[in-house]
Amino acid sequence: MIKTTSKLIGNLINGEWIHSNETFEVLNKCTQEVIATVAHADESTVKEAVKAAREAFETNPLTVLKRYEILMNAASIIEKRKEEISLAICREVGKPIKEARQEVERGIQTFIASAEEGKRIVGEGMPIESQPGNDGKMSFSIRVPKGVVCAITPFNFPFNLTAHKIAPAIAAGNTVVLKPAQATPISAALIGEVLMEAGLPAGYLNIVNGKGSKLGDLLVKNPSIDFYTFTGSPEVGRFLKNNTGIRHVVLELGSNSPNIIHSDVKDLEEAMNLCIRRGFSNAGQACISVQRLYVQQDLYERALEISKNIVSTINIGNPEVEETDIGPMINEQEAVRTEKWVHEAVFEGATIVAGGRRNGAFFEPTVLANVTSNMKVMCEEVFAPVISIIPYETIEEAIAFANDSKYGLQAGIFTENLRVAMEAAKKLQFGGVNINEVSTYRVDILPYGGVKDSGLGKEGPKYVIEEMTDLKLINIHV
Ligand code: SIN
Repeated sequence: MIKTTSKLIGNLINGEWIHSNETFEVLNKCTQEVIATVAHADESTVKEAVKAAREAFETNPLTVLKRYEILMNAASIIEKRKEEISLAICREVGKPIKEARQEVERGIQTFIASAEEGKRIVGEGMPIESQPGNDGKMSFSIRVPKGVVCAITPFNFPFNLTAHKIAPAIAAGNTVVLKPAQATPISAALIGEVLMEAGLPAGYLNIVNGKGSKLGDLLVKNPSIDFYTFTGSPEVGRFLKNNTGIRHVVLELGSNSPNIIHSDVKDLEEAMNLCIRRGFSNAGQACISVQRLYVQQDLYERALEISKNIVSTINIGNPEVEETDIGPMINEQEAVRTEKWVHEAVFEGATIVAGGRRNGAFFEPTVLANVTSNMKVMCEEVFAPVISIIPYETIEEAIAFANDSKYGLQAGIFTENLRVAMEAAKKLQFGGVNINEVSTYRVDILPYGGVKDSGLGKEGPKYVIEEMTDLKLINIHV
């Protein structure tokens, strides 16, 4: 029996799960059954959470070794509870079980990498004696934790993206107040359980649950928070940036990722398989999902044909079934929004190559052709299983098309030509460019973060630890 069925989840404050009369329900996104009832955090709960984090930070610092041991313990507890956690993700997101398992595997690596990077937080010695009048002096820097980290996490990868914020924060010596997405608080609660079992002292991780707009406001206004890390929409990212004063913010926002298949691609079928299948993983609900697929003119018609064939092999259905490739979207409203965007594109001249229909919260894997760059399915983040395929003539044109976006998180390009690959690597205005890999390719130790409206700062344990620590200068004169 899986523990997460109809679980009662409190807010985690100073090591205790605190329940409340005001609750909200978490649904299995496929069956719409209630799988958890969660305590709503009110203003005083948020204050208590921040206070606990502040006190833990100030009164109970952990040695680097202790932090390492806790995070490594957490990784091995997750390993033991892998199947249970995967099923919880599968149910609360509607994510196919095979992808939920991959998310947990990645989460384990995120914990391990954070633990290891925690041992490599270094400053540097400075040759101060090289400067006139500084004989006998010594200068060096150390990195110190920022203090209280506020982490606000999204629904699409509720386990691994939460791990990407909490584990590096702890590795760097910070304490945390976490606000998980209201649709998917179970994974976050499981991380809380795991970390407490792993030996994390009370106050180090506090979790407040509820509606984003209400809690976000309270968290932003709280002066005891030193640092904010957020993954989600550009609108909320902008709100955080504009309301946190001179406090540091890391923002991982959206994108409408382009992928380019050049005519000298090694194997068109293989590249199309990667782009189409990965574009539809998690029902397209990933910030680096393939959204705009540019194919050089001479391959275009074949690419459309291949995409149609691939879509015909994709299984839509209950995400708990091993063979399922696409489950429901996070809710019916999102599927209705997607349907409207697709209808609007068709009204404006797009053609449906495959898919295009909605059934409740399920949206068919959809491929569009004859799109234009001003259609919402092209210029906004679609965050749904919808891919548009667009022909181009030259690589310069493809790069210009790809860059014609307010976003810039990750891009992919498939080519055997080194000159084309180098041109793309240099000219694509994105946080990451994947050559002979799809835009969704991400390994958790790598730097991850965008330019333009896609965000600010980098994640990836090593890189976000830089963001979550301050450089402190020590000058010694004896
Ligand atoms: C995201 O949606 O930004 C995360 C994608 C991933 O980690 O694979």
